Parts: sequence; C-alpha cells; structure tokens
Amino acid sequence: MNLTTKVLHMEFSNLTEAQNLVNDLRDVIHFHDYRYYVQSEPLVTDFEYDSLYKKLKKIEAEYPSLITDDSPTQRVGKGLTKDFPQVPHLAPMLSLDNSYDENDLYDFDRKVKELSGLNNLAYCVEPKFDGAGMSLVYTDDALVRGATRGDGVIGEEITNNIIVMRSIPMRAAFSKYGIKTIEIRGEVVIQKDKFKEFNRKRIEDGLSPLANPRNAASGSLRIQDSAEVAKRNLEGVLYHISYCVDADGRDMIGRGLKSRDENIKMLHSLGFKTPYEEHTRAKDIDGVIKFIDEWAAKRDDYKYEIDGMVVKVDDINMEERLGATSHHPRWAIAYKFSARQARTKLLKVEFQVGRIGTITPVAKLEPVSVGGVTVSSISMFNEEFIEEKDLRIGDDVLIERAGDVIPYIVMSLKDGRDGSESKVHFPAECPSCSTKLIKEEAAWRCTNINCPAQVLERLIHFASRDAMEITGLGAAIITKFYEAGWLKSIPDIYNLPFDEIQTLEGFGEKSVEKLKQSIETSKTRSMARLMFGLGIRHVGETMSKGIASHVTCLEDLKDWDMEKLAGIDDVGPKVAESIYNFFHTESNLELIHILKDFGLPVCEEKKEKNTDGKLSGLTFLFTGTLQKYTRPEAKKLTEDAGGTVAGSLSAKVNYLVVGEDPGSKVDKAKKIGTVNIITEEEFEGML
Ligand code: IVH
Repeated sequence: MNLTTKVLHMEFSNLTEAQNLVNDLRDVIHFHDYRYYVQSEPLVTDFEYDSLYKKLKKIEAEYPSLITDDSPTQRVGKGLTKDFPQVPHLAPMLSLDNSYDENDLYDFDRKVKELSGLNNLAYCVEPKFDGAGMSLVYTDDALVRGATRGDGVIGEEITNNIIVMRSIPMRAAFSKYGIKTIEIRGEVVIQKDKFKEFNRKRIEDGLSPLANPRNAASGSLRIQDSAEVAKRNLEGVLYHISYCVDADGRDMIGRGLKSRDENIKMLHSLGFKTPYEEHTRAKDIDGVIKFIDEWAAKRDDYKYEIDGMVVKVDDINMEERLGATSHHPRWAIAYKFSARQARTKLLKVEFQVGRIGTITPVAKLEPVSVGGVTVSSISMFNEEFIEEKDLRIGDDVLIERAGDVIPYIVMSLKDGRDGSESKVHFPAECPSCSTKLIKEEAAWRCTNINCPAQVLERLIHFASRDAMEITGLGAAIITKFYEAGWLKSIPDIYNLPFDEIQTLEGFGEKSVEKLKQSIETSKTRSMARLMFGLGIRHVGETMSKGIASHVTCLEDLKDWDMEKLAGIDDVGPKVAESIYNFFHTESNLELIHILKDFGLPVCEEKKEKNTDGKLSGLTFLFTGTLQKYTRPEAKKLTEDAGGTVAGSLSAKVNYLVVGEDPGSKVDKAKKIGTVNIITEEEFEGML
C-alpha cells in the first residue's frame, strides 16, 4: 500500500498517534502539492487530494494544539490584511541592466573579463519571467516571510498572499546544506492560458481586462483578502539567492554556494519551481547567444510570458569581485526580446454587435507591426475602457501584444495630441437594426432578438469549431447564405436549398456534397456541444458539458428552478438565471423541438459505457459517404458495441471506416501508420 492510501485509512486514538498521523498527512500533501504545482505531474485524483486535506483539517479541529503555521491547512483564508507592513530586504533587490542585441552582449562579456581579470567565463542563462518580483525568507527550514520588491531596499510584507501559492513550499530542507537563514528572489507569474481565462471572466463581469500577465500577477499580490488571491492561479518561480548564512551567521554566498547553476539545482531539489529545465550553463558568450536565439524562437510556445533572458556569471565568487553600480549588479545582464509594443494612430472606432447583442467598440488603427504581427484592429471592450484611458479618435496610442494574448491598447500617448482629436461617441441605437440600446452592467446591448447582426453571429457561433463544427460553413459563407435569404435561423442549416447553392459562384457538385456531409456529421455531435451552440448567455463550453451531464434531454431543463440549476458545479446565480430564462422562452423550446425533428442530439442516453462489447476499447472514425447507414446510425452502432467515435483523425483512432469519395483522411491515416483502414462491410463484420 502506498503512503497516500495508508494515511487515508489510518486511524488514531490518542494525541501521540494523532500527531504522527498529522505529520504524515502534511508530508503527503506537501509531496502532492509538489507533483501538481511544481512538476505538473499529479499522482492522485482531485478527490484523493481533497480527502487527505479534509482528514488533516478534521484532526486539527479535534486537536487545535497540533496546528502549526506551516500546515497546508494554513495556506488559505488568513482573513483580511489591512495594510502590508514595510520590511527591509536582507539584501537589496537590485534590478538588471538591459541589452538588446549581440553587440551589447559582447560588450558585457568584455567588461566582465576586464574587471575579473579572467579570460574564460561561463554563464548561467535563463528566461526573464514577466511577472512581479518577490523575495522569500526561510529560517530553520520554514518559510517566515514573503515580500514584494518595493523600492528594492524596503518591500511590503505579503506573506499571507504568498503562502496561498502551493508551488511555494512552506518548509524546505535548507539545513541539509548547513543553511540557517536564506533569502531567495523570484517572480510571481501566471500561466498565459490562465491569464486569458482570468480576462475572459473580467470581461464577462463587466470589468476591463488587464494588459498582460505581469499586471495580473502584481495586482493580485496586493489584494487584501488572501482567499481571493488563492483563486488567481499564481505561481512562484525562484531563481536567485541573495542572502544566505549558516548557524553561526557566516555568509555562505561564494563559499557553500559556488555556482549559479548549482544554486538552481539545489532549489529545484528542495522542491521549488525554478528555471531548472529552462536554464543552461554556457561555457562562453557565444554559447549564451546561441541559447538566447533558441529561446527567442520558442518563446510563444512557452506557458509563461517572458520578456527576455537573463545572463549571469556562473561563478558566484565573481559577485563580490565585480560588485554593482548603484542600480545594477555588474555580474548579470538582462537581454530584452524585441518589443511587443508599438505606437500607432487610432483612426476610427467601429461598433460590432455580438450574438447576445453586446456592442463592442473596435479600434481601427493605422496598421503597425508588433512582434512580427501586423495589427490594424483591436477590441476596446466597452465604454468604460475608452473613458478610463481617455482614448480619442486621432490619438497616438501605445499597443501591446503579450505572447499569444490578443493585442491591447495600453494607453493614449498624449504628447502626440494637437487638438484635432475627437471624443468617441457611443451610438444610442444598434448599428445593425437601429433598436435603442440599453446599458447592462458595463455593456451596451441591443435587445432585439431578431437583429440581423445578432442572428448572423448566432449562426456563426452554432457552426463554429467548438460548437457543432460544421466545416465549410464559416462566417463568409453564412453571410452569403443569409443575404441570399436561405439562412435566417439555425434550423435553416438543416434545410438548405443545395440545388440553388450549386449554381452559386465558387460552388460545384463536389463542394456542395462536402457541405452536405459536414452538416449531416454535425448531427452526431454531443448534446453538450449542441447546448453550447445554442449560445445561452454565460454558458461556455465547459459549463455546457457540466449541465448536459445532469439531464437526458435539453428540454428537461425547463422543469428546473433556479435553485436546482445553481446546485450544479460552477453555476452561479447569474448563470442559473440565464439558463432559466432561456428554457422559459417559448421560441427557444420551439427551436429545440424543431432541431430534434431534424435528428440533432437534443437527447442523449446516459448509459454506463459497455466495457465488454465487441468494440470495447476501440476508437473509430467514419469518412466519405456511407452506403449502409447514416452517420448517426454508424455512431450509435459503434457506441452500442462499446466503441468510441473520434471527432478527428489522430493516432488514437484504431479503425478508419471508408465510404465512397473518402478524401484526404485515407492518406493521412496511411501516414500515421497505426490506423486500420476498413470498408463498411468489414466494419459490419466486426459487429
Ligand atoms: S536575477 C540581482 N533572474 O527581472 C539580480 N531576475 O530588472 C537578481 N526577473 O527585478 C535578478 N526573471 O524581478 C533574475 N531569471 C531571472 C529573472 C529576473 C525575471 C526580473 C526580476 C528583476 C528584473 C530585472
């Protein structure tokens, strides 16, 4: 039995046994925090983790004397922090000098060699994380303090907000290295995809999104409610030891700790998140440049936002020998990647109507290149955003593109104003249907459900990749069909006049056949995707899955009251109200009814998966025109026999069943090599 299972089952009958169990539980939880938050390789399910946590909490409630500051249960909800006390750093937090090209790096190398009197110098190179700087102090292996950078000499004590980050260990075995007190510097960061999600929620709540992950991290650290900070998915990356003494108070920097490379390895082995995998020890400046070039090419694929690389002399003894100017150490330099900011002109503002009628102002800009991408159009989210930043037509604006995050207007550059700029006026009427707009939270909305712009957006959303995935029915074609009068509502998709479409320019027999097929295939999507496709306000993709798993048929939801709806995971009162309203609107129920008649997945049987059917454990994909069954029939047959039908071709597919005119999938399957390509007859044989 492993330790996790053991501690979950272990009982206790006295204080000593409780103490032992508490110690074991803390160790096990600490280990799983490390696996999950530092290594991103969890070993237990969320359920098991929660059980460990609950058990620890229960024992601590029974024996409060066993609670210690470093218990995992103390990581959340330390209550409100009124203000953050000022604390002096043990060593000043200097910032780094910047370099922008190879020449700057060669200059740096030359200077370091001159000052050190050495001809050969190795460097430690690692990403420059774009977050908020912090310092941590550990004494006797326990985390005793976390602080912001402040002015570099004095920071703000934010320990309560630091300990909610589970990637930061509450205890670390520094004593193993003879270390009594250590101050470590690092960066509080947020993963790019978590940041996107964070902004999505802000927009939904009527707040302006933040420009970049850095702002999200630094803003979060000063929130007074640590329970709120805990929800922000912040992480701590540690990269530098700024102060370190042994039990006699002797400085260990340069003695026990000899190289930066070793320091990172030590912090890594003690359970910290570090640039362990991301760093290198380059034997000379050419090696540094090569490594930086590699990172410049892959920075967009990295999960954290980085704005450059940091180059540090590897030998720590050089720290003292080289010293520092009043601002920067001489033994390190930051290499900044090309800016992802640019200055351009705001030419005009257009107003777009979304599928639920929200009016979004969109800035039309003089095209400008930002980090290799030409930008000419940027969302300005809502009226408040424009007012807050005092953006005017004709203004020079600073724009920023943080990684793969959407471009953003940082501010208007007022030095470029000459008086000819004009204020942005929000329209009083819908630009598409002229209905008078109303204001809801931060957004102006058009409430006309038949507004042509909204209808189009709803159709585009329904057919989009994450919803019903009707390939060949993208925004441009939908608009064309809409203008031709063939496509005015979702059911029209399933009743298109293909004979007429075939006469359109750009359409032939083949493309019409393909379109027919993909519309037919959309009937095999899940009920959750259909629900998402209907575009219920506040109901995203994940939420749709959660809700769909509770009902057999979508229309069952018309019998759910708000309280019952709000009982579903992640469904708050706002979402519950929206779902309630949707299923209490006659026209929506009618729509669902019509879609059901067209064979769409309005209902879905929730049956236990057949694990000993003839096709159990096998994944199928159908391609081309099937002669014996429709796609939904083929899907049902497969699933009834325990098999799975894949949405697209990948190495996970075991069998590709080929009908007539199969297209490119067959070649692709051959390339993959492990996919069996079979006929409909062979498929039937397997059944
Ligand atoms: S080393 C004394 N390494 O960039 C040198 N800094 O101006 C200690 N930063 O204030 C800093 N990633 O907040 C170092 N891998 C890294 C870093 C890094 C980000 C930040 C840090 C510092 C600023 C440099």
